[in-house]
Amino acid sequence: MLVHKISEVKDAVNKWRGEGLKIGLVPTMGALHAGHASLIKKAVETCDKVIVSVFVNPIQFCPGEDYNEYPRTLDKDVELAESIGADLIFAPTPDEMYGAGQRLSNDTLAYVVPPFFYVNKLCGKSRVGHFDGVCTVVAKLFNITGADYAFFGQKDAQQLVIIKKFVKDLNFPIEIVSCPIVREESGLALSSRNKYLTEDGKKDALVLSKILFNIKACYEKGITDVSALKETAFSYLTDKHDMEYLEFVDKNDLEDKTTADNDTLVLIACRVEGVRLIDNILLA
Ligand code: PAJ
Repeated sequence: MLVHKISEVKDAVNKWRGEGLKIGLVPTMGALHAGHASLIKKAVETCDKVIVSVFVNPIQFCPGEDYNEYPRTLDKDVELAESIGADLIFAPTPDEMYGAGQRLSNDTLAYVVPPFFYVNKLCGKSRVGHFDGVCTVVAKLFNITGADYAFFGQKDAQQLVIIKKFVKDLNFPIEIVSCPIVREESGLALSSRNKYLTEDGKKDALVLSKILFNIKACYEKGITDVSALKETAFSYLTDKHDMEYLEFVDKNDLEDKTTADNDTLVLIACRVEGVRLIDNILLA
């Protein structure tokens, strides 16, 4: 069932709670693909009732980013989520989420602000304020739904670490379940933003996963020096690739690594045809 109001979610949740049911939440921004579907499937397997939120969250987009262009395909999203077994699709407007007339700025709106160390690197470095917006909307969704479990993809690895951190630090009574990255057969990680790419762009985008797979293969052959592993990336890059970062960090606390080990997460961000793409791989 599709609902747009917070009160409608609360009514459904209160009823389910009365029946002693376990509730799962899958937060999304819509334009659902097989990556999102895998999260919903896991939620359906784990919980009695599943809520999928579809909300293009204005406060996590930086000035000049694609908030207006972001694909919005609600009818299809509802159809897909329900076909997998989602019980409720919550698609609020910004006014419903933040209050009509509310200025969306941290001068006037309370935010959940994740720790600077976790934010001032990787995607957070170029997307200033992005993770404040993510944590704020995710905290609101946790409070609105009162879910027992929430499901997030490893695709957005920094987001996942940061969400786990604020849930722990602020004692949110919810369990975070991380789900593996879903890829096309080619290796390309599924993303709603892949829709912006031409066919040629999609081919150029394969370089991200190729670089990561090759680094993992080199690590498995015994190379652990991060500088040496980073160098293996250069042969893949062409003038079609505008690399933002390739970093090696600890999978739990995002601490930089100089020597790779089984806890090392390798993350890449690169623009192809002006589209900012991210991917990552765990070396273990
Ligand atoms: P969105 O980009 O729609 O992603 C929703 C969830 O789907 C995230 O947890 C993301 O990691 C996961 N996901 C996306 N692509 C995936 C893939 N190829 N394989 C596995 N999981 C994948 O992330 C957001 O929305 C927002 O920041 C949100 C958390 C909803 C807050 O607004």
